[in-house]
Amino acid sequence: MIKKAIILSGGKGTRMSPLTKAINKQLLPIYDKPLIFYPLSILMLAKIKDILIIVNKGEVKQYKKILPDGKNLGIKISYKEQSYPKGLPDAFLIGEKFIDNKEVALILGDNFFYGQNLTSMLLRSTKLKKGAKVILHKVVKPELFGVAKTNNNGKINQIKEKPKKFFSDLAITGLYFFDKNVVGYAKKLKPSRRKELEITDLLKIYLKKKQLSSELLGRGGAWLDTGSIDHFYKTSAFVSAIENRQGFKIACLEEIALKNRWITSKNIKNAMKFYGKCEYSDYLKKLI
Ligand code: DAU
Repeated sequence: MIKKAIILSGGKGTRMSPLTKAINKQLLPIYDKPLIFYPLSILMLAKIKDILIIVNKGEVKQYKKILPDGKNLGIKISYKEQSYPKGLPDAFLIGEKFIDNKEVALILGDNFFYGQNLTSMLLRSTKLKKGAKVILHKVVKPELFGVAKTNNNGKINQIKEKPKKFFSDLAITGLYFFDKNVVGYAKKLKPSRRKELEITDLLKIYLKKKQLSSELLGRGGAWLDTGSIDHFYKTSAFVSAIENRQGFKIACLEEIALKNRWITSKNIKNAMKFYGKCEYSDYLKKLI
């Protein structure tokens, strides 16, 4: 059972410069809330309460302004710094003490997920005891992502990071579930040609041992990109369209915490004070 998770929320966001020169990408807005709220909401929907956020050197203070320690959400948030972007598996080296030889999930701070069956898929995935699990989603430009090929039974038989030549259109999304061995395996990895530790190399270790499973986020679900400025705005437009049509917010952290019975109306009132007079607080008020 996975009870811990890491949000990898560093990176230089160079593709979005100058927006990211003074502010980390994951603190920039996707419509009405900072980007990091979205991956954090996914972990909370997965009922994970012990969360480590890895940020760039010197950025903890900024993050704590918006996500101090998790208490008001009924969860525990701790922080660690990454000295420079060494690659995604570095999360397991930085987080070794936090992981404490337990199973762990990893979500990338810039990944956006949405869909009807998402929560049940998440809850299924946190049941993992042995091996690793990834979430796959069909995309038009697989060359931009880690990609998996599956056989007729839906089992992964090949993985490649940003393949130049087409071999599958199933992207490996930035949400991963790992057993206790992940830290040990991450320690064995060597930097790739782009001088980073690659998550796909880590997944290949599990694949070789026949311990890599997957779930497909089908066409009823959305996994959206926030890598470039254009995609950032398209994701914002998506959130705006859904929220303004339905009147429900996507990734309202307090709403999820309340539904999970991790907090009470008192915490919601505290949150309204914390955020001040704004539309987000108006929404919170309607919850109680
Ligand atoms: O989004 C899913 C994709 O993420 C996967 O399909 C790929 O297999 C995986 O390698 C990764 O691809 P990217 O090249 O798009 O990852 P990127 O370098 O953009 O980093 C993703 C997020 O993680 C971003 O918010 C910054 C953060 N990050 C990244 C690195 C390499 C860190 O905090 N530290 C790091 O060292």
